[in-house]
Amino acid sequence: MDKSIILTGVRANADFTIGNYLGAIVPMVKLQKNFSKDHQINIFVPDLHSFTTPVEHKDLYLQIIRSLKYYVASGIDLTDDNVFIYRQSYIASHSELTVILNNFTYFGELSRMTQFKEKKGDDDNVSVGLFDYPVLMASDILLYGAHWVPVGDDQRQHLELARDIALRVNNKFNSDIFVIPEEWSKQQEFIGRTDGIRIRSLTDPTKKMSKSDSDPNGSILLSDDPSLAVKKIMSATTDSNGKIEFDMEKNPGISNLIHILSLLIDEPLEMTIKNWNGKTNYLELKQAVADEIKILLQHLKNNMSNMDESELMRKLESSEYLMRDVAVQRLYKIQQAVGLRP
Ligand code: TYM
Repeated sequence: MDKSIILTGVRANADFTIGNYLGAIVPMVKLQKNFSKDHQINIFVPDLHSFTTPVEHKDLYLQIIRSLKYYVASGIDLTDDNVFIYRQSYIASHSELTVILNNFTYFGELSRMTQFKEKKGDDDNVSVGLFDYPVLMASDILLYGAHWVPVGDDQRQHLELARDIALRVNNKFNSDIFVIPEEWSKQQEFIGRTDGIRIRSLTDPTKKMSKSDSDPNGSILLSDDPSLAVKKIMSATTDSNGKIEFDMEKNPGISNLIHILSLLIDEPLEMTIKNWNGKTNYLELKQAVADEIKILLQHLKNNMSNMDESELMRKLESSEYLMRDVAVQRLYKIQQAVGLRP
């Protein structure tokens, strides 16, 4: 029987934030450790998705390789035969499937995507690429028949859309062309959580921490100098209640720090909350987070500089070679179903 597939991607338009790291990379590293014996792990760079937020085109190619290096620096084991690493644009079937699926996706559905609405705002001059982004993401998932797609909370709606499109196409053609990715709650259970991860901005904790944020102090990049990251944590926005109380609605700043700390030290959130609730020294909490961030960034820095890049490039090329074949085969089935092939 084919192995069930775990698949995820992180865009490479800028350096990763600790939101990407804690929300997507760490879960993937854990899943590899725990499940790669009887699962296939697909890690890819959605490089065609890079253009949906500002990007330095001349730096993009190297940025993509750099982002793959961060996976390895974070603990993804390239010697594992069940791990495949590839770039979306190197496997043309992603784009071709998107063109087909566009015809089975509704304008209304895409218009309702929260991320699209937030990024668009009142500006009509946003790209069609931004609008169509979730269909390309659905193609990324459906081409390989992935059951498990570990992503942060902000991608929940896009994952649900991928399920809807897959079900719609399967029903229309009375077939099982597409594997339906598991629903959100099961996805969370699979990664050992009850809810999705959403790390907030350090300066405006009502917003998600994002690599495209115009305020550099709001996010910590994995490439930040550890001393700069410490400064950002120490000056993070908190409430002025005078007492630590975890409540994402009422006290998002301090709660965000507790959440980050629990993930960094790999402790259940409830336990971290128990350890800090009721304390009055905000500085002590900030210092605890800053210490952990410093250790993490230093560790990643060392791993990045000691990495054998040629091993990564070999793995990339062999994975792309194999995955291209898998993708073409599934695309062919879809082309047949829609009448493009005999
Ligand atoms: P992207 O590049 O915006 O984010 C990549 C991953 O990081 C997670 N993430 C966060 N998690 C917690 N807190 C945050 N502040 C935070 N910021 C980002 C995201 O949820 C995501 O898991 N569309 C995707 C990339 C993609 C993809 C796919 C993912 C394209 N095709 C297929 C899975 C499967 C994206 O833009 O993620």
